[in-house]
Amino acid sequence: MQLAIVIMAAGKGTRLKSRRPKVLHQIGGRALAEHVIAAAAQVVEPKDIYVVIGHEAEAVRAALRHTGVRFVVQAEQRGTGHAIQTAKPEVEGYENLIVLSGDAPMIRTETILRLRDFHLEQQAAMTVLTTRPADPTGYGRVVRKAAGKPEVIAIVEQKALKPEQLSAPEINSGIYAFRAEPLFKHIGELSTDNAHGEYYLTDMAALLVKAKERVVALETADVHEVLGANTIAEMMELDAEMRMRKAQALMAEGVTIFRPETSVIDSTVTVGADTIVEPFVQLLGRTKIGSGCRIRSYSVIEDSTIGDDVLVRNGSVIGSSLIAKNALIGPYSHLRPESEIGEGAHVGNFVETKKSRLGAGAKANHLSYIGDAEVGAGTNIGAGTITCNYDGKGKHRTTIGANVFVGSDSTLVAPLAIADGSYIAAGSTITEDVPADALALGRARQTTKPDWAKKMRSRK
Ligand code: UD1
Ligand code: CA
Repeated sequence: MQLAIVIMAAGKGTRLKSRRPKVLHQIGGRALAEHVIAAAAQVVEPKDIYVVIGHEAEAVRAALRHTGVRFVVQAEQRGTGHAIQTAKPEVEGYENLIVLSGDAPMIRTETILRLRDFHLEQQAAMTVLTTRPADPTGYGRVVRKAAGKPEVIAIVEQKALKPEQLSAPEINSGIYAFRAEPLFKHIGELSTDNAHGEYYLTDMAALLVKAKERVVALETADVHEVLGANTIAEMMELDAEMRMRKAQALMAEGVTIFRPETSVIDSTVTVGADTIVEPFVQLLGRTKIGSGCRIRSYSVIEDSTIGDDVLVRNGSVIGSSLIAKNALIGPYSHLRPESEIGEGAHVGNFVETKKSRLGAGAKANHLSYIGDAEVGAGTNIGAGTITCNYDGKGKHRTTIGANVFVGSDSTLVAPLAIADGSYIAAGSTITEDVPADALALGRARQTTKPDWAKKMRSRK
């Protein structure tokens, strides 16, 4: 059987009041359209997926190109029926089509397969997926020939509902299967004689029935799956639902998540068993967390890899970084991109790192900036130490060997190399390389004047 999937994604999403095209808005850390494509790509090859784009077409194409789908441009968006008319030259050669909405991101592969199988079993020209949400207002309603029977007479849009139909509970999901031949034979009969002056794909139901074709409905119990994201509020509801499903999947794998409704975990994240995630944590992008870790509240971790048994204390911000096992981060650490924290190393409160490597067991526990630096194993970076990596023009590197003791409040002016086992006296400004096992002092000698303060006071 030759099957194509068409995803309608050309609309502007006026109800979002946003400059960004609707299908590029994100829930669960991915664009709406990417979720739909991911589900569709489990059913057919990407080359048999056609995404109808129009509003901000080039931005949408660029954002979705990586999926390998094909694009159809609907330059003027004259309705869902017109979207499918526009795709006709590309898809009329297939036997059957499944039509999905770029703005119904929760659709699951299983449901697409159920729709396909039901459509084929029923030998229908059109099969519409339906559900019964708590509040059907705003959706098109599916009118069946008789309750409990699969045959459909028509789909009636909200604005065309007769008073007695207003509470009709069964809605059109906007997801359909069609046999291509009758669809394209009759699609030219759609008219714009309706509240929006658009070509409605929903009108195909009545048109096909009139042409003596079989139109049926398949109901799904999973309401979220077919809900469209038409407003930011609706989108955030779906986001919460999607993230709760992710949290539940992780918990089923042995991860403890306190107050899972407060966590923001992207679907792409992995977490090992016996890791504990405290309330109000965000785990984003390609983050991978090992087992036996504890991620304390208010930490935000993005595109980072964290080994086993790592403790990330409260309020840490970690991006595109690598943390080896048994390390201790935070509270309030800022690990910027390309930070590599070695096994058992400590990065403490108000320490910022960037493009830097801390060796195994190294410690930078308080109030430091470590940028463009290499810190050897076992080295201690005293409180308030700063690598001066920027001279106003270029960035320079600081290399610190193993088992070095950098005294508190040191200023290390790069480019600079401090060799193994050396000592930097507290409060130093170091501008020259320090050889192994040396002591470097770079500060004024202290002067103490006995009784000076007492005399000063008595003069007043
Ligand atoms: C549509 C259905 C409605 C159903 C609801 C389910 C119609 C007329 N109505 O309404 O019965 O209950 O979905 O969510 O189809 N699009 C295009 N080109 C266009 C217009 C729209 O590609 O010219 C795309 C949109 O980007 C969107 C999808 O089609 O992804 C649905 O369009 P939308 O305007 O959201 O339709 P609804 O009003 O939600
Ligand atoms: Ca919609």
